Amino acid sequence: MNVLLTGGAGFIGSHTAIILSERGHDIVVLDNFSNSKPSVIQRIERITGRSCPCEEADLTDAEAVDAVFRRWKFDAVIHFAGFKAVGESVEKPLEYYENNLIGTLKLMEAMTNHDVGDIIFSSSATVYRGDSPAPYYEDYPLGASNPYGWTKVMIERMLRDVCAADSRWAAVLLRYFNPIGAHPSGLLGEDPNGIPNNLLPYVAKVAVGELPVVRIFGDDYDTPDGTGVRDYIHVMDLARGHLLALDYIRTRRGCFSFNLGTGKGYSVKEVVAAFERACGKPLPSRIDPRRAGDLPEIYANVDLARKELGFSAEFGLSEMCADAWNWQRRSSSASEGL
Ligand code: UFG
Repeated sequence: MNVLLTGGAGFIGSHTAIILSERGHDIVVLDNFSNSKPSVIQRIERITGRSCPCEEADLTDAEAVDAVFRRWKFDAVIHFAGFKAVGESVEKPLEYYENNLIGTLKLMEAMTNHDVGDIIFSSSATVYRGDSPAPYYEDYPLGASNPYGWTKVMIERMLRDVCAADSRWAAVLLRYFNPIGAHPSGLLGEDPNGIPNNLLPYVAKVAVGELPVVRIFGDDYDTPDGTGVRDYIHVMDLARGHLLALDYIRTRRGCFSFNLGTGKGYSVKEVVAAFERACGKPLPSRIDPRRAGDLPEIYANVDLARKELGFSAEFGLSEMCADAWNWQRRSSSASEGL
């Protein structure tokens, strides 16, 4: 298939690009590189041995997006592009609504104009309102506690409405839990700008000495060891989920949502311990107060993805940490010119 990947230079987009390309799909990446680097495209090409055409464009620029659809013929779109920092979205809500909602709207208009009706959307476990107990099921009530989360809820709604109105559309909403890890080659991984917000990239930077200490946000939650529990999933497993979703909508119309996780929760302390095993040394850590807005325990029920998509995660926490460490080690020594 010919597949457009918006945000294809980002963390999840780039790993998905590799899997799709390796399975023989022809991909085009559309990215504005606002939170990614053009060098990612060369890395994708190096890993796959295939060319990865890239269009530098902003989704909110309707003319630029339409031009991409005029230049290429697509069978499907995987829509990763979007701002994704929870805290920043609270400070800059309009930027989040503008970028994520208007960007998606322009993308969907271009799809309509060019008769492309198949879309897979990067949604998130953040769309669950958070007042129901884990595990999270796809039919749990939706809601959000920050503008970033609301953009995901609203985009899901837009896609659902369009699928209901027009039988040429089919959408798969993939609700990611906590994607971590990296490509096993060590050439691609998560590379956030500035100080990371998320646990894994933070721990990885402590392991290479770029940050002094792992801060554990709260050890008084009602969880087995008192620290927050999340459903971490290897980014290569997540990427494979997109491949299965592409196959799934080929023969179906309508809107479908699936959790992508492992179905198993790990605590912050368990993650730090697994990373210590991966990097072979103890990491300094301290207990800090709870982070505002965090929930004690979030993990997926994965029965629906298994039954409908045939998806189940292959990699466990030790592989996730080993690959994240391999990537962090290589990218830190590369930036030091070693
Ligand atoms: N944590 C720490 N120290 C840190 C960072 C995080 O103890 O330095 C803890 C958090 O309190 C939480 C766990 O580690 O218990 C995971 O935190 P992350 O920031 O890595 O991930 P979140 O689960 O908070 O959020 C992630 C994505 C969101 C998405 C959400 C969906 O970052 O975009 O999953 O559940 F919305």
